Amino acid sequence: MEIKEAQFLMSNTEVEKCPAPNKPEYAFIGRSNVGKSSLINMLTNKKSLAKTSGKPGKTRLLNHFLINKEWYLVDLPGYGYAKVPKAERMKWEKMLQNYILKRENLYCLFVLIDSRHPAQQVDLEFMEWLGVSEIPFSIIFTKTDKLRPVELEENLKAYEKKMFETWETMPGYFISSAETGAGKDEILAFIDDINKNQ
Ligand code: GTP
Ligand code: MG
Repeated sequence: MEIKEAQFLMSNTEVEKCPAPNKPEYAFIGRSNVGKSSLINMLTNKKSLAKTSGKPGKTRLLNHFLINKEWYLVDLPGYGYAKVPKAERMKWEKMLQNYILKRENLYCLFVLIDSRHPAQQVDLEFMEWLGVSEIPFSIIFTKTDKLRPVELEENLKAYEKKMFETWETMPGYFISSAETGAGKDEILAFIDDINKNQ
């Protein structure tokens, strides 16, 4: 699938005010600065559709984009960023939790993980919560351009090993780079497949 048209629709703090849930929806989540907004720009071929920043905590709202007039893509705020004041962090977490649990047309949540780092507790706990809550998700390992192929392979192996401590099977995953476009065809084909079989 090629993204021919990507249009910003609206930003929200409440799931109830999001666009009518009448199209398949895919959202991107993960720790602050992991590369959610950059990945959305890479997938849509638009440099500044979603706002990115070198400083964590850039995306603060639920941002809906309409893709090819057929499905929604959502840029979400990051979680687990210690420098955001606690009250604000809790507000975001509540907003994210509500969105994830209540958004009926959310077909898949993509959990982004920085491929350079060992498994982080906050991500592992978040995915466990998704599992318990029966939310369909896939993992996307980001920033793979920053690693040599052997390093990437080692990190992926280590991550799988960690996941197998709690998961019987490894959730589906993609490897990506917003710099090189790696992962784009695979992620879009996966979405296209779900859209066609809904
Ligand atoms: P928040 O909105 O703050 O939660 O962050 P985010 O997850 O949306 O991250 P964002 O896309 O804003 O990117 C954070 C930083 O990482 C920026 O400086 C990006 O240029 C950089 N970055 C994102 N993806 C990649 C990638 O694939 N490769 C490289 N080298 N840098 C990346
Ligand atoms: Mg962002």
